[in-house]
Amino acid sequence: MSVDRQEAGEAVQRLAIDGGTPVRDPGRPLPSPLTASGRTIGAEEEDAVLRVLRSGMLSGVWGTEVKALTEEFAALIGTRYAVACSSGTAAIHLAVAAVDPEPGDEIIVPPISDMGTVTPILAQNAIPVFADVDPVTGNLDPDAVAALIGPRTRAVVAVHLFGKPAPVARLRELTDRAGIVLIEDCAQAYLAPVRPGGPLAGTVGQLGCFSLQQYKHITAGDGGLVTTDDPDLALRMRRFADKGWPRETGERGYLHYALNYRMTELVGAVARAQLGKLPGVVERRRASAAAFAAKVAGLPGLTLPPDDGDHVYWYYPLLVDGLDEAGLRRYGAALTAEGVPALAGYLARPLYAEPVLRTPLTYGRSGYPLAGHEYPDGLCPVAEDLVYRRLVVVPWNENFTDADVDDIIAGVAKVHGALVAS
Ligand SMILES: Cc1ncc(COP(=O)(O)O)c(C=O)c1O
Repeated sequence: MSVDRQEAGEAVQRLAIDGGTPVRDPGRPLPSPLTASGRTIGAEEEDAVLRVLRSGMLSGVWGTEVKALTEEFAALIGTRYAVACSSGTAAIHLAVAAVDPEPGDEIIVPPISDMGTVTPILAQNAIPVFADVDPVTGNLDPDAVAALIGPRTRAVVAVHLFGKPAPVARLRELTDRAGIVLIEDCAQAYLAPVRPGGPLAGTVGQLGCFSLQQYKHITAGDGGLVTTDDPDLALRMRRFADKGWPRETGERGYLHYALNYRMTELVGAVARAQLGKLPGVVERRRASAAAFAAKVAGLPGLTLPPDDGDHVYWYYPLLVDGLDEAGLRRYGAALTAEGVPALAGYLARPLYAEPVLRTPLTYGRSGYPLAGHEYPDGLCPVAEDLVYRRLVVVPWNENFTDADVDDIIAGVAKVHGALVAS
């Protein structure tokens, strides 16, 4: 090999973060959910928007689109009802409000999720109690949950993290035994069977919450849906999204405290078009994830997510051995520099370490509802190990081509080889 070639070879191997040549040409970014490249927005959504605009009816209260969306969504997921609302956070708020905790009651949550899983609990004057998670999936550990269920526990929120179903069958046994409610947070897990060939996430708990935010498998910009088989819960949620107004009676009344979390017809119509594409989105994400896993599976010090045909790959989580916090952050930054956007830890810190919970200022300076509750470091050691030392996530996408996946494989192999001792 000539000296020039050797130098070129070394430059290719040097990490891009250290000035080497990135695996992926920066002029050709991977498909991203922030642009059309990584979304499935097309003629169907254009038609949907025009259909609504031309009808003159933009409100989901009197229109047909939101109503049709809820029926189609319930049928797709396999529940009797779905209730539409304005975001995934609103969906969790509807679910928590339907559970109707007393002030100071407790709701068990995992520490690795979006904060939208947690703040609705504060809004209802209840206390989020954090249970530790499985060291591989980051989903709630049922034993940790069982140890925390007490006389004031009213519900458990199980997040299907990154698209891998949480152990909801076991959690439902626990919540049934305790006479409390299981809420599934399915924002990252559309069409994920909770066991091979089994029912879908969103049908095992009494309530299943979904998000239509920009980054999700399907999107309408923002939007939310809650599935349930229970007509009373469905009615309470419909009213909670609509100022407590009992529309079904035809009477103008305000029956209880409630907000306006209504979904508009524009969002509903776009969501319906997206819904038709959802099975294909999941199938393509699963196929490209399998191709990726087949190639990186042997890398020493790398653990891939378990997949029993149930993972729907919102993000692809990599577990890396032997790094400290700075090393993990460098791993994520190095992958990103190679042209494979990645997030070390997924979060900056577990949710309980966020200012919103550590310095409770929800209701003025009263400290309410968290006065007297502390969320110290070390509360959930497994979650902390994941967020600070082991977990790196790669946002996955339905529009990845074979060549894109090859680049992701090359990026992971290069960064892993350079930063993780074999
Ligand atoms: C697991 C989880 N729960 C809740 C939410 C909140 O959803 P939204 O952003 O639509 O309010 C999100 C996403 O952002 C999420 O990923």
